[in-house]
Amino acid sequence: MAKPPVMQDWPGLIEAYRSWLPVSSTTPVITLKEGATPLIPVNSIAERLGRGVKVYVKYDGLNPTGSFKDRGMTMAISKAKEAGCEAVICASTGNTSASASAYALRGGMRAFVLIPDGYVAQGKLAQALVYGAEVLAIRGNFDRALDIVQEIAKKYPITLVNSVNPYRLEGQKTAAFEIVDALGEAPDWLCIPMGNAGNITAYWMGFQEYKKAGNCQNLPKMMGFQASGSAPLVFNTTVKEPDTIATAIRIGNPVNREKAMAIKSSGNGEFLDVTDSEIIEAYKILGQEEGIFCEPASAASIAGLLKRKAEVPENSKIVCVLTGNGLKDPDCAINNNDASFHTNLDPDIQTVAQAMGL
Ligand code: F0G
Repeated sequence: MAKPPVMQDWPGLIEAYRSWLPVSSTTPVITLKEGATPLIPVNSIAERLGRGVKVYVKYDGLNPTGSFKDRGMTMAISKAKEAGCEAVICASTGNTSASASAYALRGGMRAFVLIPDGYVAQGKLAQALVYGAEVLAIRGNFDRALDIVQEIAKKYPITLVNSVNPYRLEGQKTAAFEIVDALGEAPDWLCIPMGNAGNITAYWMGFQEYKKAGNCQNLPKMMGFQASGSAPLVFNTTVKEPDTIATAIRIGNPVNREKAMAIKSSGNGEFLDVTDSEIIEAYKILGQEEGIFCEPASAASIAGLLKRKAEVPENSKIVCVLTGNGLKDPDCAINNNDASFHTNLDPDIQTVAQAMGL
């Protein structure tokens, strides 16, 4: 009998893609076995598009801390460790802080995380606290927090692990490798939410490197989506007071703006905004029709695809990136669902049966 694949064989993405990454035999590898996330067909979305289109989600919410950030963080923290660093810092809308806290802990480093007070989803805040980071909540938004941590990292011996750290993007590009390795080719479209635009930049790097090496013949069209209230890349502006239910991408002045704009001006990218209600509609479709729970920022990739429905090429293959796990933001889930939730029931059979409609 054939031996089933054993997940324990997966060594984490640095070992899996070592030759594609800036590591040497002496780099200490700090890993939680991130990567190797599933590419799941989502027929409910494909059916809405019709014309033979195949749609998959890259469910990166299944990484060890529940978001794609772990791909970048295994690299950033391993390289920080290699350089002898003892502390790291980041600004975050939540996921970067969760990931940095976990990986810094494993690497024996202190983690300082700056977050916008009141605008980080509960699950993410809980993670940073559980992993023992020093959490600094400011009365200001993410953009302000990023300005502050950049200054602190210049002045003090603390390594910045936001996506301005080039090792973050190196790690994150492996998601593009995994997609090509799974499909045997690049998808026709890659749909992805954008905040600071680090991830879209990393995917683009990954696809280009694989194409250059002959691992795929084509490059996907990069479809980047932002929430309407926080869409500086779509409208080519800076948003002073960004606003959206998708707090992960509540960013008004993306630090990777130029890299994102280069993708767009190369003719390989298209950016579009999606409203909060379009995001929530997509979020609900994934939950109710696919059994896939992502966070609202991630659902922007599906919302954008549905909005661009008319332009989808016939018989194409599309991958939407689900960047974060739905469990990160329980408040959003509880406030945005169509479930029948009967509360305060008397604890007897008759009441329960009646509530069940029996
Ligand atoms: N999706 C999720 C779930 C995110 O947490 C983020 C960014 C993005 C998408 C956008 O990725 O910034 O590379 O374009 N979160 C950062 C954070 C800002 O602090 O966790 P991007």
